[in-house]
Amino acid sequence: MYKGIILAGGRGSRLFPITLSTSKQLLPIYDKPMIYYPLSVLMTAGIKDILIIVNPNDLENYENLLGDGSQLGISISYKVQPSPDGLAQSFILGETFIGSSNVCLILGDNIFFGENFSNHLERGINRTKGATIFSYHVNNPEDFGVVEFDGDRVVNIEEKPNKPKSNHAVTGIYFYDNDVIEIAKNLKPSSRGELEITDVNKTYLDRNELYLEKMNREFAWLDTGTYDSLIAAGQFIHMIEKRQGLKVACLEEISFSKGWIGSEEMLKQANKFKSTSYGRYILNLLEER
Ligand code: G1P
Repeated sequence: MYKGIILAGGRGSRLFPITLSTSKQLLPIYDKPMIYYPLSVLMTAGIKDILIIVNPNDLENYENLLGDGSQLGISISYKVQPSPDGLAQSFILGETFIGSSNVCLILGDNIFFGENFSNHLERGINRTKGATIFSYHVNNPEDFGVVEFDGDRVVNIEEKPNKPKSNHAVTGIYFYDNDVIEIAKNLKPSSRGELEITDVNKTYLDRNELYLEKMNREFAWLDTGTYDSLIAAGQFIHMIEKRQGLKVACLEEISFSKGWIGSEEMLKQANKFKSTSYGRYILNLLEER
């Protein structure tokens, strides 16, 4: 069984002064807070037990936004990250939460949109041993973890290399077996002082237990870390939603389609938001049935 962790820590310093007093992952991406998008990914993957890791000052805001998850038929708990010491710290902070399960980590600022995503996710979920990571062809690989190939075989992963060996960046969603807790505990901080997720992935690679899923070019993996990418992501979601009349990452819709909540809970949620197109969208879903 997989549990899910959303990492919503970090300083968001590339967005200062916007993020001086608020969490980056609560900023709007068009019509909903950023964290809805990674949360929707975990829910789409069928993961119902979720830990959100947040900065000390932001805990209350996240609790106000998402509560214990029962309104969505899922369970959400929270853990404070005292200081942003790396992605791999998630597994140490989340040790008790993970227990003896497998775990999917998703970054709170990553937006995924596209066909076949459920199939990709399924392949991660169905693997009970080892690690599954996802790569995406980008223009600026030097800003990410980068995969090096020999033919189709992954031979190395480098964190933010000066001379990237490919354009395939490692995206912010990872599936791991339970060994990840011990692996994280044994990591040494990198030169930037962080416990690197890339070092976790390299450990699995050395064990011959690292599986890579390549996301194709029809897919969108969006960044939200700068002024420009933040607004571009919002415009992208706006454009898709306006064109289709369907919402991306409507959490209630996902819960409802999976049978995790019924019409009564849907109506309650719709009424909370009834002055917005988000609320009316939930109402419409109910009426269409
Ligand atoms: C982190 C990881 C990097 C990965 C990226 C995905 O980068 O270290 O390997 O490609 O997330 O968003 P950071 O957010 O620390 O810059």
